[in-house]
Amino acid sequence: MSTVAVYPGSFDPLTNGHVDIILRGARLFDRIVVAILVNAEKSPLFSLDERIEIARTVFKDHTNVEVDTFGGLLVDYIDRRRAQVIVRGLRAVSDFELEFQMALMNQRLNPTIETVFMMPAEQYTYISSRLIKEVFALGGRVHGLVPDMVEERLRDKRAARV
Ligand code: PNS
Repeated sequence: MSTVAVYPGSFDPLTNGHVDIILRGARLFDRIVVAILVNAEKSPLFSLDERIEIARTVFKDHTNVEVDTFGGLLVDYIDRRRAQVIVRGLRAVSDFELEFQMALMNQRLNPTIETVFMMPAEQYTYISSRLIKEVFALGGRVHGLVPDMVEERLRDKRAARV
């Protein structure tokens, strides 16, 4: 039996921390599905289509990485995809409380699904999509923290605003 993992999230935008976790997952599981939540935020910076395009481009050479979208309950999506594992990244102790709650809620909703927490490489432990957007909006450099394509798209968005 092959093990399929789902890595769910908003990915607004995809960061190098996400990329690191996905590559680790791709080594560990037969298949990893990057599942982008539809309607996570009312006004995301990157549209759903942009987020799909970015993730598909970044992982185009990785045959066991798939990019998909989902709405509704994560455990229902996992069921539909016949997956067994939820992958979540843990960066710091501060992530733990919410992640622990979500993992236990998902376990209650479907006890057959396991949540696996993975640590990104140390240099990515402080990165979050929210900080990337804030730093970039205020003119800071995000080079090396996000895939090049995300950096380009952030620049395009800034140029379109002025
Ligand atoms: O990137 P994020 O915003 O931290 O991802 C959060 C996500 C998408 C994993 C979470 O909000 C989620 O699973 N949403 C789907 C709805 C659901 O199943 N909620 C109950 C899970 S405890």
